[in-house]
Amino acid sequence: MDMVVTGALALSCINIVRATGNSVLAFPPTTYTSTLPLVVLQVISALAHYDFSILTNNAIIKSPSRLLRYLAFAAFFIITLWTLTQSARMAELPVPHPIDNLMDIAEKQSDAWTRQATTSGSLLGATQEYHRRHNRFPPPGFNDWYDYAIKRHSAVIDDFDTINEDLGPFWALKPSELRLLTAQAVSDPWNEVVLVKIRGGTASFGKVIPTHKWMVEGLVKMMRGFAFHLPDMDMAFNINDEPRVAVPYSKLRKLRRTPKYESGTTKKSINWSANRAIPLDVLSSSNGTVTPQGLFDNWSFRKNFRRFGSVNCPPSSYVHRLRTWDPTILCTSCAAPHSEGLFLSDWTLASSACHQPDLSDLHGFYLSPSAYKPTNELLPIFSQSKAPNYMDIRYPSAWNYIDKVNYNPTINHTDPPFSVKQNVLFWRGGTTEGFSDMGTWMGMVRQRFVHMVNNSTMSMPVLQPTSEGISVYTYNQIPSNQVEHHPLLTNAAFSTSVGFAPDITRCYGRDCDLQATGFGLHNQSDFQDQWRYKFLMDLDGAGFSGRFFPFLQSHSVPFKAALFREWYDSRLTAWKHFVPIDLRLHGFWSTVAYFAGSLGNHRDSLASGPKDRGEFIAESGRAWAAKALRKEDMEIYLFRLLLEWGRLTDDRRDELGFQLQSSS
Ligand SMILES: *[C@@H]1O[C@H](CO)[C@@H](O)[C@H](O)[C@H]1NC(C)=O
Ligand SMILES: *[C@@H]1O[C@H](CO)[C@@H](O)[C@H](O)[C@H]1NC(C)=O
Ligand SMILES: *[C@@H]1O[C@H](CO)[C@@H](O)[C@H](O)[C@H]1NC(C)=O
Ligand SMILES: *[C@@H]1O[C@H](CO)[C@@H](O)[C@H](O)[C@H]1NC(C)=O
Ligand SMILES: *[C@@H]1O[C@H](CO)[C@@H](O)[C@H](O)[C@H]1NC(C)=O
Ligand SMILES: *[C@@H]1O[C@H](CO)[C@@H](O)[C@H](O)[C@H]1NC(C)=O
Ligand SMILES: *[C@@H]1O[C@H](CO)[C@@H](O)[C@H](O)[C@H]1NC(C)=O
Repeated sequence: MDMVVTGALALSCINIVRATGNSVLAFPPTTYTSTLPLVVLQVISALAHYDFSILTNNAIIKSPSRLLRYLAFAAFFIITLWTLTQSARMAELPVPHPIDNLMDIAEKQSDAWTRQATTSGSLLGATQEYHRRHNRFPPPGFNDWYDYAIKRHSAVIDDFDTINEDLGPFWALKPSELRLLTAQAVSDPWNEVVLVKIRGGTASFGKVIPTHKWMVEGLVKMMRGFAFHLPDMDMAFNINDEPRVAVPYSKLRKLRRTPKYESGTTKKSINWSANRAIPLDVLSSSNGTVTPQGLFDNWSFRKNFRRFGSVNCPPSSYVHRLRTWDPTILCTSCAAPHSEGLFLSDWTLASSACHQPDLSDLHGFYLSPSAYKPTNELLPIFSQSKAPNYMDIRYPSAWNYIDKVNYNPTINHTDPPFSVKQNVLFWRGGTTEGFSDMGTWMGMVRQRFVHMVNNSTMSMPVLQPTSEGISVYTYNQIPSNQVEHHPLLTNAAFSTSVGFAPDITRCYGRDCDLQATGFGLHNQSDFQDQWRYKFLMDLDGAGFSGRFFPFLQSHSVPFKAALFREWYDSRLTAWKHFVPIDLRLHGFWSTVAYFAGSLGNHRDSLASGPKDRGEFIAESGRAWAAKALRKEDMEIYLFRLLLEWGRLTDDRRDELGFQLQSSS
């Protein structure tokens, strides 16, 4: 049985790890010495050459004098000599570990983001800043929102660009169309989309199955403090974890061509239209162009990357050019654009599907989602998170708001200071990423992860200091049976959820047996018991991970590998607030080695905060979460999102705008 599982897993897991260490991996050189300076200098040298030929061919110097030619040659010779000596010298200089570099960059990016996130100091300033960013006035009620945010000490006042990004495409649809599509989406329970409506300043929700009631109930609770500021309106909330809206490139292009609201000329503040509450049954009657039955398709348990995951990528993108690859080896060209060596360097770019065709085989959501009813139409659906290139409107999930999972250390389960925690990376969770039939579990991130840390028989690439000096690094292959000699301790296993029978879930027949034998199953450990470990792995489930907030709030370091992105994505900076891991997992061991080993223990170059780099990330994430990811921040985000939605669906939206009456 073991052979079967191992052999099959090899398809998607082990060989990826193995491939990473050898020549297949094109982008990190075997020895990470001064390649960057070398490249830079080669470029300089090439440019010098280029300059030179331009010089001699230049029309102005049609027949350069002999002297000029000698001079030019001499200049070229000197430049070449100089670059060579420079590169020789620089090759001897210690070269930082890529993670040192990534952390330094993250520090700067996060500072820059925070600075621009709140630049205004008054309602007038915020109104002007809004206009500057979006070329239109804020929606009506902006003053109420501003008061709400200021009273709750929001760290972010001006940067809500995520809202703009999510709602942007919907300006191409008429307000009446948006209302109609909303009404149609919620009209059929099969769609698994639930109506949340505001009437007379009170929020309420439509019919929902009991297991998913917490979602909309929590949402209504989240709105309690500000619903009376909202106009009458309807929203369609996706009650599945999986996102829904994937619009093909050609359709989007057509939509982009429709004239959009660009006005910024409103001269006075105008209130919402009257009679916004149109009864749903009137709306969803035969007037529409789309029938409710045809809105969504059932694609549960089906491979869907081509049909949905990458449909909105331009035809020229890599995802459409590379149609086949060997899933048993790491697709380095797919990872390279967002990587530096083995490490994930660009968290934002990593959330684009267009250069990553191999994702198709590497996530439960693309391989076999459990409850998946997507559409290729641009429908206004509010979702808790979205996969790359999806167009769901993100909103703060009630999951963390109503403490379905929370950070709550107790006397018996303390969260000790980082330095006294166990030097171990910990993960527990269920087999919930997707539904496994025909072996699809072998590509899922959770399964690949547990297998990799618990059963891998292969050696893994780890970037380590060379014997000559701590600051020069080499990729070494470490056999898995030796990882304990290197400080790479992990503790990962599948476990049952509280209140459920111990069982491998979301699988069919043989797939359940194979997983049960291969992975075993542990009893659920107390969620609050995890704070004893320095490093906590965070992986997607069927949708976003509900544990990430508590992980951030703790004194431990979250390691996050994720396809899904949530409302707060732009507020966090990878390598500053958490440690990003590529979904291919190929840099995992080397990243753990960096933080858990001796490498991460010096942090002299950075100005403030703990010297241990792991502790630095743990404390940065914790401090920022306490400031910008509070429950208040979820309310503030949702409030602003719904004001925007209110305007978007208002027939007079082109005139609607909040503008402070100036004293003149
Ligand atoms: C907008 O209209 C509502 C009722 O329709 C009213 O209560 C509110 O005072 C108005 N706000 C402004 C700024 O005119
Ligand atoms: C639907 O169509 C009927 C007849 O064409 C019209 O009277 C009615 O106002 C329309 N309803 C909506 C909500 O547009
Ligand atoms: C969706 O499709 C799956 C697989 O064909 C099927 O098992 C499931 O019952 C369907 N769900 C609905 C709601 O139709
Ligand atoms: C802590 O553990 C002790 C003994 O194991 C138990 O009596 C006590 O109720 C626990 N306290 C909490 C808050 O769980
Ligand atoms: C795999 O997990 C089991 C059970 O937790 C543990 O005993 C074993 O040492 C693990 N193997 C490795 C290689 O980590
Ligand atoms: C993984 O390791 C566990 C514990 O060491 C063992 O029981 C299980 O059979 C192994 N699975 C595979 C697929 O090798
Ligand atoms: C798991 O829990 C059950 C009962 O809740 C207990 O009988 C069993 O021994 C536990 N297993 C382990 C490995 O702790």
